[in-house]
Amino acid sequence: MHAFAYKNGTLYCEDTKLADIAAAVGTPTFVYSKKTILDDLAEFQQALSPLDAHVAYAVKACSNKAILNMMAKTGVGFDIVSGGELWRVINAGGDPTQCTYAGVAKTEAEIRYALEQGIYCINCESENELRAIDRIAGDMGIKAPVAVRVNPHVDAHTHKYITTGTNENKFGVDITRIEELYATIAAEMPNLHIKGLQMHIGSQLTDVTPFVQAIEKVRPIVIKFKELYHIEFWSIGGGIGIVYDGCLASGQPEWWAERPEQITIRSYAEAIIPLLQPLGLKILIEPGRRIVGNAAAMLTTCIYEKKGEAKTFKMIDAGMNDIIRPALYEGYHEIWPVNEHSGDTIIADIVGPICESGDFQAQNRAIADVQPGEVLAEMSAGAYGFSMASTYNSRPLAAEVLVDGDKWYIIRRRQTLEQIVEGECLPE
Ligand code: LLP
Repeated sequence: MHAFAYKNGTLYCEDTKLADIAAAVGTPTFVYSKKTILDDLAEFQQALSPLDAHVAYAVKACSNKAILNMMAKTGVGFDIVSGGELWRVINAGGDPTQCTYAGVAKTEAEIRYALEQGIYCINCESENELRAIDRIAGDMGIKAPVAVRVNPHVDAHTHKYITTGTNENKFGVDITRIEELYATIAAEMPNLHIKGLQMHIGSQLTDVTPFVQAIEKVRPIVIKFKELYHIEFWSIGGGIGIVYDGCLASGQPEWWAERPEQITIRSYAEAIIPLLQPLGLKILIEPGRRIVGNAAAMLTTCIYEKKGEAKTFKMIDAGMNDIIRPALYEGYHEIWPVNEHSGDTIIADIVGPICESGDFQAQNRAIADVQPGEVLAEMSAGAYGFSMASTYNSRPLAAEVLVDGDKWYIIRRRQTLEQIVEGECLPE
């Protein structure tokens, strides 16, 4: 569920008209619903309450300071993947002792920083990384809390760029080698404290089956590790998918009745709780997309129309630098005019201003016949939208707005051209 819907022919986020935000702030602008984010976080906590479960929100999905601050106030933890993300979380009022730190190539400076800040656990991805942390912790005279990411070799059936849990991927340590590695840590790395085990099989999973398969496969190892190393947690990662195609309709309760196969927080929880509850361990989950994905739309303005021999193009003022998902993952985002049209659908490509043929937000899409000057909302833009944006083609980063009922706040000012070139300098 989310808070975007047409009321009397105009698209709202909660009780705020998107057209009003576009008029005041300009476009492109990402608009987030506070209610959707907080409701989804609460739903995770509620659905998993039979477990000793803790949410570590995956910061990479959307890392705006105001959003992290709002989440931190609910007491959630954070899953970070760089020193920069940890700094952001702390800067936003988050607690580093509730953070886990993932990633395959952490630098020495990042590891030191995380340990100095009292990170809850560093989730490691290789023996060499563990040896580096052992050495750094030894230098610092402390014991570093670690877990290893096990790669369970389960196919998540998602896009190849966001599948992470097979032995073709760079992530984690193969399930066939994990027991030997834990024995090596215990025997040879005195400055490490084995705190848990981690896994994450991929992103945008719309079916619970791969989650269940991975949990069933790894569970016997978790049971052994609890005995042998007294591990305190098992992190089962993130990856719960959202609705892209059908997004606007999915804000209405009736939609869900027609799509019983679509994963929900509840169906995910119901499938995994019976497998995890008997373990008597703390369970961490690292959702990113499911919390922020449907909670935002990106507003963009139609600039021109071009009718070609083969296609009609609607040119917009947002490019692949603002949302790269269609270009990179063949991602599908619904696009709706903020002032509703009746019945005049055409087939068009919605393309941006960037000098690349991959710069499209939709291809061969049935869409309202919007005219230059009209504002559109690109839906499901909250996860891996702004957080993957760049200034390619010297295009300033978009503005971000947080809606709270009928009030809204700018949570990131549009970047200026001066800010784009700020760090550049001429050679002496
Ligand atoms: N935990 C770990 C270790 C991860 O690598 C990720 C995402 C998550 C949690 C959160 O996954 P989520 O719940 O958001 O699916 N840019 C891509 C998605 C990349 C996901 C990377 N890892 C996209 O736009 O689809």
